[in-house]
Amino acid sequence: MLVLGIESSCDDCASAIVQDDQRILSHAIHSQIDTHREYGGVVPELASREHLEKIVPVIETTLKKAHLCFNEIQGIAVTYGPGLVGSLLVGLSAAKAISFALDVPFIGVNHLEGHLMAIFLEENHPSFPYLGMVVSGGHTSLYIVRGYGDYRLLGQTRDDAAGEAFDKVAKLLGLGYPGGVVIDRLALEGNPSAFQFPRAMHSQDTFDFSFSGLKTSVVYFVRRYGEAFVKDRLRDVVASFQEAVVDTLVTKIIQAASFYGIRSAVVSGGVAANSRLRKKLIEKAVESGLSVYLPSPALCTDNAAMIAAIGYYYLSQGRSSPLDLNADADLCL
Ligand code: KG4
Ligand code: ZN
Repeated sequence: MLVLGIESSCDDCASAIVQDDQRILSHAIHSQIDTHREYGGVVPELASREHLEKIVPVIETTLKKAHLCFNEIQGIAVTYGPGLVGSLLVGLSAAKAISFALDVPFIGVNHLEGHLMAIFLEENHPSFPYLGMVVSGGHTSLYIVRGYGDYRLLGQTRDDAAGEAFDKVAKLLGLGYPGGVVIDRLALEGNPSAFQFPRAMHSQDTFDFSFSGLKTSVVYFVRRYGEAFVKDRLRDVVASFQEAVVDTLVTKIIQAASFYGIRSAVVSGGVAANSRLRKKLIEKAVESGLSVYLPSPALCTDNAAMIAAIGYYYLSQGRSSPLDLNADADLCL
């Protein structure tokens, strides 16, 4: 079955075609970074307008790259939440229109489920159960994944998401948007032990996270040492901040794996593209006998292949969504 996936939950307008739940035939993505950069974050109204302009060309490019035409598509998968409602509606409306015109089924997919299961697009993936962590701009959540559709939430952030902390700290330090990538790059040349930033909720009693205190501690650091000092030691400051985020995420995964006796973990979402997180996770996992699986960076950040793959699975089970399915900005998993 050939499934077209559509993703428009935030600032990436993406589509992909998968042939089975593991084989990507083609994909295309239009990133809106240049539009939102000058505002230091995603402006929802601008995002939905740009999705509207780009969604059809992006889908056409995807078809062209796969040497397919519209009527060869046999099913459509689309993100219907969580995310920005205006942006979600563009992708969802496109999916419904194609489904109606071609008389093929479509299925609404939870964006978080897409991230959690993106690892199945890689050759090397775990068997169930595994610990699944989604670390993105909007979410930091830890689950036990027992199978498709069988997710037990162990903990989540009580305030900012990990990616949000990266973006806010980058903004505070005048590093531009999106912050995670810039901090990742600068931190490569910095000393992660130069300064001590707090690691919140490190106790074993909870698998929840909190990143707003860390963000505030960077605010106080800048006030205390002054902008000139921070500018001078920028690489050390961002490396030390990044290390606090990475330590928190890695510690929680190792603690949860030992508490629940689970031997494999998958980390995905935009922050899982972070080079320091990837390195430290692998190091610590080896020490504690845990097998860690990380999607390639392009499959960690928002993409439509993960939506198409999960949609493929549900469509092949005979499931589909009704044409009156609505976008749900706060959709839970
Ligand atoms: O999954 P994603 O593409 O979109 C959401 O679903 O939110 O994640 C975007 C987030 C942003 O906060 C961005 O700064 C962060 O992921 N991010 C990174 C890196 N690449 C993207 N954070 C740290 N290091 C990176 N290399
Ligand atoms: Zn995402």
